[in-house]
Amino acid sequence: MKSIFYTRFFILLPWILIVIIVIDIDTKRLSVRNTASFYLSRLGNVQQQRQVVRTTRSSSSTTSSSSSGSNATSLPVIYAITPTYSRAVQKAELTRLANTFRQVPQFHWIVVEDSNSHTELVSRFLARSGLRYTHLNVFTPRRFKRTGMPRATEQRNLALGWLRGHRSVKDKGVVFFADDDNTYSLALFEEMRSTRRVSVWPVGLVGGRRYERPLVEEGKVVGWYTGWKADRPFAIDMAGFAVNLQVILSNPRALFKRRGAKPGMQESDFLKQITKVEDLEPKAKNCTQVLVWHTRTEKVNLGNEPKRQQDSVYIEV
Ligand SMILES: *[C@@H]1O[C@H](CO)[C@@H](O)[C@H](O)[C@H]1NC(C)=O
Ligand SMILES: *[C@@H]1O[C@H](CO)[C@@H](O)[C@H](O)[C@H]1NC(C)=O
Repeated sequence: MKSIFYTRFFILLPWILIVIIVIDIDTKRLSVRNTASFYLSRLGNVQQQRQVVRTTRSSSSTTSSSSSGSNATSLPVIYAITPTYSRAVQKAELTRLANTFRQVPQFHWIVVEDSNSHTELVSRFLARSGLRYTHLNVFTPRRFKRTGMPRATEQRNLALGWLRGHRSVKDKGVVFFADDDNTYSLALFEEMRSTRRVSVWPVGLVGGRRYERPLVEEGKVVGWYTGWKADRPFAIDMAGFAVNLQVILSNPRALFKRRGAKPGMQESDFLKQITKVEDLEPKAKNCTQVLVWHTRTEKVNLGNEPKRQQDSVYIEV
């Protein structure tokens, strides 16, 4: 009895090993490709990648949404960088954002998907959004998708690379990192539009508090009101600052760090490369107004979702 077990075991053993090796090679190949595209994106050379970059301008003139009298085409363009990934609430979140962004004059949405290619859902969504947009994608290598690791690093860096490859000293603009789980007041965009180098403002519902904010004295940032890691050089959320496009272009090496980066330190690591605390420009009435909220959507309950398709039609959600 025992000997039969052992013979079977030893016959099976090589096959099990072969299967393990094949699976391993497969995942390695995948991650080599992803690493390559990651480094290309760090070079800011988007054209070398097999990624389709598409920029469209909405057919209706962007000037129509500005208030009468002001000359919208002379305003700096707001480039909002939104990393996004496929999940149950994705389209709902993007819809909420688009409904806000559509009301902002001179706005350009850079949407970066965490995927190997453009997904149909996001492609269709953007094409119908009526917004001026650029659709990019870069897949986050699986080894970086662990809890405790910073998120959306590759996506934000790809967007910065796109700006460096497609905009020049002639272009007036302000760059803002607009995550898809926040709520944005329209007033925020008019505050950030006058950013000369790097501007900052409070963020609501973040860091375990009702709000976090830069502390301002005589028009200068002197510290941070925060409930979390107050010793960060820039104790600020991703939604709490904007950068003039020319600062992004004149600091071509400024990127979000993957190596050695800790969650919650991304903002500080990035801002350290382009500015100093004393040079920050406080917005929103010297940082006393909350115009953006880290709302986050409640985790959806899909407990009753059938394992196999039961409806007679396929419905995109
Ligand atoms: C708006 O500003 C642009 C650029 O400064 C200028 O070329 C254009 O003539 C202005 N339009 C109006 C209506 O003032
Ligand atoms: C911010 O504070 C400075 C210095 O106290 C003051 O001159 C300025 O008017 C304030 N700005 C606003 C928008 O309240």
